[in-house]
Amino acid sequence: MCQLTRVILLLCLSIVRLSALNFFPGKFKVGERGTDVILTCHTSEHEITWKHQDAHSISKISGSEFEKISGRTLTLMDLDEDQIGNYTCWSQQGLEDYTYLLLDKTKETTAFNLKCTAESFSCTERIKCSWRSDAFTAFRLRNSRDNGKWVSESVDGVFYLPHSTDSYSEESERLQITGEALSACCYMKTDYSFFLRDIVKPANPNISICRVKDEGSDEQITEVEVKPPSSWPQPQSFFPLTHQIQYENRDDGMLKTKEWEKDSKVTVKGLIRKLRARCRDPLLVSQWSEWTPWTNVN
Ligand SMILES: *[C@@H]1O[C@H](CO)[C@@H](O)[C@H](O)[C@H]1NC(C)=O
Ligand SMILES: *[C@@H]1O[C@H](CO)[C@@H](O)[C@H](O)[C@H]1NC(C)=O
Repeated sequence: MCQLTRVILLLCLSIVRLSALNFFPGKFKVGERGTDVILTCHTSEHEITWKHQDAHSISKISGSEFEKISGRTLTLMDLDEDQIGNYTCWSQQGLEDYTYLLLDKTKETTAFNLKCTAESFSCTERIKCSWRSDAFTAFRLRNSRDNGKWVSESVDGVFYLPHSTDSYSEESERLQITGEALSACCYMKTDYSFFLRDIVKPANPNISICRVKDEGSDEQITEVEVKPPSSWPQPQSFFPLTHQIQYENRDDGMLKTKEWEKDSKVTVKGLIRKLRARCRDPLLVSQWSEWTPWTNVN
């Protein structure tokens, strides 16, 4: 009785695992619909048998019109959805090898939105990529240019990829990001290439209000200091930033913007209620950072 419960439980567990493939199997192979795929059992044994496990069942393969066994290889003909799943090969000793087979949908799937940014071009900062699709359940990315390892998502669809770009010299070769996604049945692969300099988006700068000087009734001077984000490379003379502040007038609630380069300090005249800042690389004409939260001016 106990044994039976265990068997049923194991069966249920493996069904759940197979129907929602939310990880990349250690060994897998992909083939397009209608093609033939050859699976090899890596073993020194001569007498082997094959089994196929999918979401519905485990079955022994005895050879048919669509499954040809020859020595240690198994050829699956005219690939279709019902042939996907886990193929295991067995000898007298037990399990010898396995390969998980998936349908390759790369050609039929329109590449979904893979987007990357970098807080600086220094290799101490990782590239942040977002990639997600409802049609797939597992995703991974790698930086192929630098021979990087596969990286899985850290949080919902966000990946952090290391790179070896040198911030002191001209970047000569594009980064090549390779993505793989899979679902219970299917697999797709995509490539995305770019220069790191084209995806730079600095982190938020750090603002502090140094001094508010009242000169008469409505003449107020506010001195603001905008510091580069901590992920931005130093020295600032070598890696300049353009700063922008936006501030709200106390009288009419109008928003005004001021932009300047290099110097970290700026002064604003007039009565101000609040202000915020952002920055970007003027040499690359990079994307702007996000705005800092509003800071109240007293
Ligand atoms: C496929 O089968 C092998 C051998 O039983 C097992 O180790 C592996 O986890 C299975 N893969 C999947 C994705 O179920
Ligand atoms: C901003 O600068 C202040 C003063 O140097 C520091 O205490 C604070 O941690 C910095 N904040 C951020 C988000 O870097």
